[in-house]
Amino acid sequence: MTPFIGYGSESAERDAGAHHTILRFESLWRALGYARCEEQMSTRPAREFHGRDAELALIRAELERLSEGAEAVVVVEGAAGMGKSRLLAEVSTIARSLGIRVGSSAADPNETVVELAALLAALFDGDEPLLGRDGLATVQAHPEQRFWLLRDLQQLLERAALESPLLISIDDAHWADGGTAAAIRALPMRLMGLPIAWIIALRPPRESTPLVHALEQLKRNGAHTIVLGPLDDDAVVQLATDMLAARPDQSILEQLAEGDGNPFLVVETLLGLQEENRIRLVDGQAELIDKQLPRRVQVKMRERLGRLSDEASDAVTVAASLGRAFTFDELARTLGRPASDLLAPVGELLEANLLVERNERLAFWHDITREAVRTSVPVTARRALDRQAAGVLLEAGALPVEVAVQLAASAEPGDEVAIETLLDAAKVLVTTDPDTAAQFGQRALEIAPAHHPRRGEIVGTTAIALHIAGNSEEAMTFADRALRETLPALQEAEVRLSIAGMFAISPEIRISAGRLALNLPDLPASVRARHLACLFHNLVTAGRIEESRAVLDETRAAVASTDDARGWFTLRVAESALEYADDRFDLSVELITSAYRDGIFAGDDQRLRLAHMWHGELLSVADRYEEAFAIAADGLAAAQRDRQGWAYQMFETWHGRMLLRAGRLSEARAVLEGRFALEDGTHAAAVLDAAGIVALGRLAI
Ligand SMILES: Nc1ncnc2c1ncn2[C@@H]1O[C@H](COP(=O)(O)OP(=O)(O)OP(=O)(O)O)[C@@H](O)[C@H]1O
Ligand SMILES: [Mg+2]
Repeated sequence: MTPFIGYGSESAERDAGAHHTILRFESLWRALGYARCEEQMSTRPAREFHGRDAELALIRAELERLSEGAEAVVVVEGAAGMGKSRLLAEVSTIARSLGIRVGSSAADPNETVVELAALLAALFDGDEPLLGRDGLATVQAHPEQRFWLLRDLQQLLERAALESPLLISIDDAHWADGGTAAAIRALPMRLMGLPIAWIIALRPPRESTPLVHALEQLKRNGAHTIVLGPLDDDAVVQLATDMLAARPDQSILEQLAEGDGNPFLVVETLLGLQEENRIRLVDGQAELIDKQLPRRVQVKMRERLGRLSDEASDAVTVAASLGRAFTFDELARTLGRPASDLLAPVGELLEANLLVERNERLAFWHDITREAVRTSVPVTARRALDRQAAGVLLEAGALPVEVAVQLAASAEPGDEVAIETLLDAAKVLVTTDPDTAAQFGQRALEIAPAHHPRRGEIVGTTAIALHIAGNSEEAMTFADRALRETLPALQEAEVRLSIAGMFAISPEIRISAGRLALNLPDLPASVRARHLACLFHNLVTAGRIEESRAVLDETRAAVASTDDARGWFTLRVAESALEYADDRFDLSVELITSAYRDGIFAGDDQRLRLAHMWHGELLSVADRYEEAFAIAADGLAAAQRDRQGWAYQMFETWHGRMLLRAGRLSEARAVLEGRFALEDGTHAAAVLDAAGIVALGRLAI
């Protein structure tokens, strides 16, 4: 594999041919008695990989261990342009020569919130994908399905690794989405002992992200780290010799020294010099025509842009808003021009090596190129272009999460499409990447006008996201302020009802959400009944039994007078728990049995699953273990079928605790350890988890 896709092997061969011609001429000229031969040079990217001997030796040794059935994890850190991608390409070549199958991908800066984008690309893309797509039930990953996808992927990888050793290579991991970060944390550990090598490259992290935590954990478990520093002088000379097809003289080397051994800068400098026709071949040695001061690449890049035709310059400027890679059609639409008009400018950009063709799309030759193009335009203009590009991508069928980052940064107040898109993206991310979801929600709120009909939904989603992200106080303050300022009472009560029903957050917050809602004026009777029932249930589950008794009569009366199915259901589930607390066991079982039977029509799926489990729990307490285990199996299967991660985890924890009580210790250990080793970071710590961890602790004693 070569990163220089812009230079097809054919043109590289042509260049090499030209070079041989020059050499032949040279000997001819010499034979004719001419002292010097001067030719304009053509420069091309390095064909060989230079330097980095120690790094390659380490990686090779790790890869060779795969044949002994061992796993390997290597993390490659290096600044922009230090040669990470090139190293990874070299590693892939080595791996293939050792009979290792390779899957590789690079995380995309525009897909930082697209669930599992980088990992799925590594596993399923390419001519010979590591895994067959049909093996996976769905590759349309949704964050709430992360838990399942990781399990499915783990199984598929286990099977694939039994057939032949694998290398999974993920480049630019600093842009990896949350799902990929979670996978990097979990999968290498879970697949330990199988011949799978992971190589993960990233720019040195500036902040502590989930990915950084994941990598730290891998390192603690024996992953190797390679820090790519500057290329040494010998390697720079080799690299330049390779590109120039002649030895560089001192003047060139001095200029290259400006790049401080950063291969990107070395390569860019040589390409820039060639473009300015400032290198010539003299007696088989490449030298500079003049000794102008070396300019930095950024400046050079602006100059390169300046030398383009207006059309090409417009096209590349707009392209930088579309992302690292884009289609010809998207570019044409963003420019508002027929595709046929773009043939010439795009051709010019390909010729100038600013763009390359990659997987039937156009792409920037290098991220640094794209960054330089972006910084060459004033911020306000860039923002407008980003917004326009996001619109085109959405129209072309991009998912809200794919363009939300761009929209969050570029949309102006009142931008309807941006408001809708950010809200949709926030909803998708709320359980798996609540921080980002909250940011999107807050941004949507900023640009939504005061009486926008979706403000209520935006506030609710954002508050829930903040809760799940663990910023409970911030969430409450945010919700309180936003709710009071902006929403009619009914909408506010509905938002608070959804907060009050979230079992993944602490009961205290659920209780206070309910109390605040009940203080609202003029609530419709059915909403009030639901809130009361919900508050009662939250008080019981929080163990605040006396307080719960205090609201019981009022709740019963409210529910009875409205005859609301959801209200009844919630009330009965809670009453069952209260009777249990009062040691009226039979009544408790009776209540939960009828609640569960009627609850199917209550439209409260989360609580229904909870009731199902509670029913099973009561049966197990009555030593009716067979029925209880059947309920556990049922609940697990239903949660799996519906891809309800939180419910699956709840049932699994309960199942483990039941096994423990039934004295089935080794099975309990297997279930509970599996449950808590699974650090996919998707769920806020809940009461149920605490119970599971306690149970696991008892097993350890
Ligand atoms: N050891 C090497 N031998 C030959 N060429 C190299 C070597 N290392 C890097 N290069 C070349 O230098 C340029 C920059 O390298 P590369 O793209 O791998 O950097 P990077 O670390 O991946 O940068 P980024 O962080 O921006 O992704 C590329 O043209 C690459 O082919
Ligand atoms: Mg790279």
